[in-house]
Amino acid sequence: VEWDHLIEGETVTTALVVLAHHRPDSLTAHIAGLAARELASSGYQVDVLDLHREGFDPRMTVADQPDWGDREKAYSAEVEAHMKRLLAADLVVFAFPVYWQSVPAILKGWIDRVWNYGFAYGRSKPRLAGKRALWLGLAGATADDPITEGMHAFLSAQLNDGIAYYCGFQESRVALLTDAEDQPQTVTEDGVLHIGEAITGEARRAHYAEFDAKALAHVRAFTAAELVSA
Ligand SMILES: Cc1cc2nc3c(=O)[nH]c(=O)nc-3n(C[C@H](O)[C@H](O)[C@H](O)COP(=O)(O)O)c2cc1C
Repeated sequence: VEWDHLIEGETVTTALVVLAHHRPDSLTAHIAGLAARELASSGYQVDVLDLHREGFDPRMTVADQPDWGDREKAYSAEVEAHMKRLLAADLVVFAFPVYWQSVPAILKGWIDRVWNYGFAYGRSKPRLAGKRALWLGLAGATADDPITEGMHAFLSAQLNDGIAYYCGFQESRVALLTDAEDQPQTVTEDGVLHIGEAITGEARRAHYAEFDAKALAHVRAFTAAELVSA
């Protein structure tokens, strides 16, 4: 147990906050900021990776394609720099809008290119071992929409099992933040997407205050769990 960082601030725990949204004024960016501030105020050193702002290119390249015969392959300078940031993080918090029950292309491409063979997987001693991930997925669907249960299960299978645990993470959680839209989206029984009336005024303010509180509770539960498991 490394208590010294709690007592004397000597060993700093680093959190990487990965934001995948094209609009700086999006709800997703707001939630990433909320998470980053919460982590900073709990004593984490926070590195915010805003994939769009940093101009990350999610398209796979020959330079970053795995060479199955060489797990020591040197990847592109861009990818190597991202690997360093991931390696430096004890904890990774992702903030993204759920697109087609998955992560947006830019985040998928970041994982495809950066979480690469010989670095993230393919070693008997995984370099990412012991790290922890929290995936904050913002969803337009409402909490009571029957689609959300399957969406959560699907995201958990992809992100926890398919990616984080596959790469040796110690813990990975998916927090599905439903009701992200101010026009509630539900799918009707006959499979038609129904976009409801926009909520306004005090109801809207209360809606997003509750949304923030939910997101913050997930971040706090996640950091609290670290102290217990440390
Ligand atoms: C391409 C696309 C796909 C989407 N797919 C889903 C989905 O599968 N499930 C869902 O609940 N919402 C889905 N949505 C709604 C977004 O999750 C929602 O608009 C977003 O979380 C709102 O956050 P933002 O304002 O930060 O973009 C989708 C939106 C887009 C643009």
